[in-house]
Amino acid sequence: MATPSKTLFEQFLAPIFSHLIDRDALVRLRDSIDWETGVAEFTNPQVIYPNYYKTSNFHGVKNGYLSTDAALTYDPITQYVLPPGETWVRESLVKAIQGVPRRILDLGCGTGTTTQMLKRRFPGAEVMGLDLSPQMLVMADHKARAAAVEVTFRHGNAMATGLPAAAFDVVCATLLFHETPPAVAKTILAEAFRLLTPGGQLLVLDGNQRTLRATDWLSTIFEEPFIRDYSQGNVDAWLGYAGFEAVRTEDVFWLNQLSMARKPLPLVERNAAAEAEDRPAPDQIPLPQPA
Ligand SMILES: C[S@@+](CC[C@H](N)C(=O)[O-])C[C@H]1O[C@@H](n2cnc3c(N)ncnc32)[C@H](O)[C@@H]1O
Repeated sequence: MATPSKTLFEQFLAPIFSHLIDRDALVRLRDSIDWETGVAEFTNPQVIYPNYYKTSNFHGVKNGYLSTDAALTYDPITQYVLPPGETWVRESLVKAIQGVPRRILDLGCGTGTTTQMLKRRFPGAEVMGLDLSPQMLVMADHKARAAAVEVTFRHGNAMATGLPAAAFDVVCATLLFHETPPAVAKTILAEAFRLLTPGGQLLVLDGNQRTLRATDWLSTIFEEPFIRDYSQGNVDAWLGYAGFEAVRTEDVFWLNQLSMARKPLPLVERNAAAEAEDRPAPDQIPLPQPA
């Protein structure tokens, strides 16, 4: 019987990463965490896993994110795949936040690296990370406690979080959309729109769609099941479709991009803001006449 051939990830990247990863340290970390209790505590039995999530192997890890292995190896691998440096790339999102938010939500927070950075940058804010994987949340919680950073983590689906509407000044997602089918990304953006306060800011940091389209080999070696669909899409267009304004995307070095947008203010507040700034109110600006 023919044995299934190894994936490109298994053939090339896994051996490289296995040299870069300190296996003894990972075993010590694994043994220092009570996974069974942690997973039971985080698991919300009401959460229904979407099909794309249960049936896909992300990063070549079997069972995707619903495994201890994924939660343990995620950080050691991720540090090598965000050129020119993981912290620099993540900081591009944190630094783009305007004003001083009171509540921040990090969708698909994984092991909570960006979630922690958000809390450090805005110590007065309530910061919450939400993820579908209880194992990733156990790891995130372990890291946050060890670093004495006060953030909360919640098991949930970013497509329908069950959180109250207009509860957050900032909603963000880091490295989430290249792992979801575009239809899921659009549903998550609609949910983010609902969760934001009027005038609130949305930030999406992910793979650079233009670069990925131009370098198909990257999509091949990383074997993310939806990365090609993601790269053919356009986050700006998805944001516009969800109702956001002031939409723009910037390159973050070569491999990543940061998309930013705002939830519009109701017209009455926009008119007041225009008056305060001595500009014509939006509803007073004449519509262009047909030529
Ligand atoms: C590549 S990881 C990114 C983790 C983290 N944001 C980071 O920047 O390192 C993608 C994460 O999204 C989570 N995820 C995927 N689909 C999700 C969904 N519909 N709702 C919530 N989390 C989801 C996965 O469990 C995983 O932890």
